[in-house]
Amino acid sequence: MSSVVQNRRVLSGMRPTGQLHLGNYHGALKNWIELQYQYECFFFIADWHALTTGYEDNSRLEEYVWTMAIDWLAAGLNPGVATIFIQSRVPEHAELHLLLSMITPLGWLERVPTYKDQQAQLASRDLSTYGFLGYPLLQSADILLYRSQYVPVGEDQVAHVEITREIARRFNHLYGREPDFERKVEKAIKSLGSRNAALYRTLRKEYQEAGDDEALAKARAMIESNARLTVADRDRLFGFIEGTGIAILPEPEVLLTATPKVPGLDGRKMSKSYGNTIGLREDPESVAKKLKTMQTDPARVRRSDAGDPEKCPVWDLHRVYSGAEVQSWVQQGCRSAGIGCLECKAPLIDKVVEEISAIAKRAQEYEDNPDLVRGIIADGCERARAAARETLEAVRQAMSMNYR
Ligand code: TRP
Ligand code: SF4
Repeated sequence: MSSVVQNRRVLSGMRPTGQLHLGNYHGALKNWIELQYQYECFFFIADWHALTTGYEDNSRLEEYVWTMAIDWLAAGLNPGVATIFIQSRVPEHAELHLLLSMITPLGWLERVPTYKDQQAQLASRDLSTYGFLGYPLLQSADILLYRSQYVPVGEDQVAHVEITREIARRFNHLYGREPDFERKVEKAIKSLGSRNAALYRTLRKEYQEAGDDEALAKARAMIESNARLTVADRDRLFGFIEGTGIAILPEPEVLLTATPKVPGLDGRKMSKSYGNTIGLREDPESVAKKLKTMQTDPARVRRSDAGDPEKCPVWDLHRVYSGAEVQSWVQQGCRSAGIGCLECKAPLIDKVVEEISAIAKRAQEYEDNPDLVRGIIADGCERARAAARETLEAVRQAMSMNYR
């Protein structure tokens, strides 16, 4: 695709936990579907991550993996532009995870907020495992393996991208240098002339020991204004002062996109663990039944009571699904008690059913043709592996481990 921004990679994954729901669709998947036309995208089914919180009973894991693959394709992920694959089919994720584990301080993992939160939330499961502690590191390996610039995730995952940045920095600091980086840096420093060389060393010390940003800025300015330096030497001097070298593993950024609030049937965030979801392929009768009994403004007890859409989760769904006309009809009708809640929900039910039916129809075509799905995923796994191998080659080289 000519519209794809070259060299800008996006990566994201989801744990296969059963059929997706409207919260997953509007909160993540729809965004991915747009991103695939703007960047080189890698999307994967994080089956190893699923094991970290549920390792005792894997009897439905395979079913969930294929369900997720079909949900994605039916929703509009396009294997012609995006690489869609399964984590465990690219064993390089595990190799990079292992190598990164050697340089990851335990304290970094223990301090990730989701570690203690999830252990408390899922208290019925034994999460005092090595795999669970390593969850964010496995995620770091996922991201760094593709040298991804952007990681589209929700708020709850920001800490994981943050630790990924720290690990990348540490890796680059330890190994991200040319084999004879030290010698070449020394030469570059000497070429500054004795006065500036001494200044450079002082500023570097001030920055590295005291974190003095002003010293860093001064050193940068001094290097930049020196017209005799080669580009490579300039990079070496920057890299040396910041304690990095040449970045083998670039630091990724979170790609936060405004996604609509998708309430569940009880008004809380739609989530499988709350049991308040509408499935992406649910049948129309069930959708209608669920929406008819969905929580509304609790102050509207009788039909004659006026309501406030701002206090009603049904309104949040109207904001996702309805056009301006219907929205103003809801606003007026609700506040004046001109319409009843069932009436208010009717156009919404139509829209949701329309959306879900289209997805379910496409999903059925894939269900009827499992070989097609397997072929698409096999192809994605191959493409992902090729990219992954390239990174690991550089990683092994940097770690002096590319003997064979
Ligand atoms: N931890 C993510 C979640 O639970 C899933 C995930 C695994 C992921 N590896 C990733 C997301 C890499 C983005 C990038 O939602
Ligand atoms: Fe909610 Fe609509 Fe009922 Fe108002 S009329 S309370 S917006 S469902």
